[in-house]
Amino acid sequence: MDHFESRDGALYAENVSVAEIARRYGTPCYVYSRATLERHYRAFDEALAGVDHQVCYAVKANSNLAVLDVLARLGAGFDIVSGGELARVLAAGGDPRKVVFSGVGKTEEEMRAALAAGIFCFNVESAFELERLDAIARSLGTRAPIALRVNPDVDAKTHPYISTGLKQNKFGVDIATAEALYAQAAGMAGIDVAGVASHIGSQLLDITPLLDALDRVLALIERLAARGIVLRHIDCGGGLGVRYRDENPPTPRDWAVAIKAKLAGRSLRVLAEPGRAIAGNAGILVTRVLGIKRGEEKSFAIVDAAMNDLLRPTLYQAWMDIVPVQARSDVAARVYDVVGPVCETGDWLGKDRKLAIAAGDLLAVRTAGAYGFVMASNYNTRARAAELMVDGDTVHVVRARETFADLVRGESTLP
Ligand code: LLP
Repeated sequence: MDHFESRDGALYAENVSVAEIARRYGTPCYVYSRATLERHYRAFDEALAGVDHQVCYAVKANSNLAVLDVLARLGAGFDIVSGGELARVLAAGGDPRKVVFSGVGKTEEEMRAALAAGIFCFNVESAFELERLDAIARSLGTRAPIALRVNPDVDAKTHPYISTGLKQNKFGVDIATAEALYAQAAGMAGIDVAGVASHIGSQLLDITPLLDALDRVLALIERLAARGIVLRHIDCGGGLGVRYRDENPPTPRDWAVAIKAKLAGRSLRVLAEPGRAIAGNAGILVTRVLGIKRGEEKSFAIVDAAMNDLLRPTLYQAWMDIVPVQARSDVAARVYDVVGPVCETGDWLGKDRKLAIAAGDLLAVRTAGAYGFVMASNYNTRARAAELMVDGDTVHVVRARETFADLVRGESTLP
């Protein structure tokens, strides 16, 4: 459920006409809905009611300061993967004591910054990271709270690029070797063994792999307890999918009911790291049709947004819904490839889409709130799009469209 809907053929973001937004702020632009973000965060938080829990929104999905601000006000924690994301959380008013730090390659500088901020937990992904973190914490006279991110070796059955829980993936510590590493961690003066984490992949449409992973992690928790290593929390990761086309992803409630059943009777705090399921449906990308080009075999709708604005179709062959902002019946619907101006054959937003459109019309790419703007680049010296957040009747510019000066900042010609 989201708050983008068609009223008499015109697309609205909450109470604001998307055509009006495009007229005022130009295209391409990302439009987010505050009510949708809040609704999705609450769905997770409420689904976990009754157990000690913390929902840590995965910042990588959409790290705009306003998005983080909206969630922080609801009490969200955050899952970060870089010092940059930590700085964003702090700048947006997020509580560092609700932050978990994931990622396979944390630098010493990032570890220091996170220790100084007093984050909740480091999700440690290797032996070398554990040793480095221990040394840094000791040198600062403190102890770093850690969870090992274990790799439960289950197939998340999603796109190979976003599957992370298999043995051949770079993420986490093999569950078989985790026990020995925990034993080592328990003896380190700079380490406080706090919990365990796992994340097996993204855009999951079935909870079975998540539950299989959980079983393996719970068995590890028991083996550790038998050795006197008692964990305080379990971080179940993120990964719940969203509907891009006709998928039927499990709801936060489906997921939470199953998790709670497995954890019943244990005194473990539960953490979750949803990203896409919170931000995905809360955003659209609005673009204008620059022109129509009819080739011999294909017709192209050339639009002003491109792969640099939204990379998912190009990178994962992801299907994302594309709808006219204003429905019209005065032009015939035709089948188009919707493509951007970037000089790459792979620059497309959608293929073989039946649309009744003409040059100058606006299109919206739906479910673009997660892994949309955050994956944008300046390829072809294209300024990144503006980001806007609608809150009821009001539109806030939450990131101004880039200018040429922004693009060359830090560059110089030779003396
Ligand atoms: N926690 C960890 C450790 C992660 O690596 C991720 C996502 C998440 C949580 C959040 O997962 P989510 O709930 O959003 O599925 N760019 C790709 C998705 C990459 C996901 C990477 N990790 C895409 O556009 O599909």
